[in-house]
Amino acid sequence: MSTRIQWLGHACLLIESDGRRVLIDPFLTGNPMAAARPEDVEADVILVSHGHEDHLGDTLAIARRTGATVVANYELGSWLKGQGLTKVHGMQHGGGCQVDESVHVKLTVAFHGSTLPGGGYGGNPCGFLVTFKDGTRIYDAADTGLFGDMKLIGEEGLDLAILPIGDYFTMGPADSIRAVKLLQPRAVLPIHYNTFPPIKQDVHAWAERVREETAATPLVPEPGGWSDVG
Ligand code: NI
Ligand code: MN
Repeated sequence: MSTRIQWLGHACLLIESDGRRVLIDPFLTGNPMAAARPEDVEADVILVSHGHEDHLGDTLAIARRTGATVVANYELGSWLKGQGLTKVHGMQHGGGCQVDESVHVKLTVAFHGSTLPGGGYGGNPCGFLVTFKDGTRIYDAADTGLFGDMKLIGEEGLDLAILPIGDYFTMGPADSIRAVKLLQPRAVLPIHYNTFPPIKQDVHAWAERVREETAATPLVPEPGGWSDVG
């Protein structure tokens, strides 16, 4: 297997598998932690968890330049089509889609808000369960609080769980440890922390708790750093 993931700061991630590049929540412009410029990022598929600016981010510009297929919820998908994008899957929670021969995406529930730019209704936010051709399965919870049905998601067998740990807008470090216990992934990667003052966290203390209290391996890349998954 050869699947690897790059943290680009905040909730933005790039996954490479089987020559395919999946970009998640590409908030780069205005992101003080951004490890790439939007004009330099390549993508075949872009996943957008909800309409808040720190997730939708540079989606339009990157999709227009790269021709990437965008996956989002139905309401956000409709809005993206209204902006001129044509390769859009507007899905809903629990639904899955084989985006191309290498990438399968299922939308999962997330407890959070979602508005479109300008304040319009953005539907319900989501997380993503992504399965690659090599069998690697990655769950990105995106912005959410802890919920017990993470146990059901974990039953699918996860190589990696991506969890917010920032607190304030999402679950914090303590609840993320409980999430790891429900999900039982082989590895866990923290996102949505240290970007802004309200979500500042000690990620190394968090990683120590993961090692001591769960069976998962914590992956803590610097912004721009890569981690092997598959
Ligand atoms: Ni949000
Ligand atoms: Mn957010």
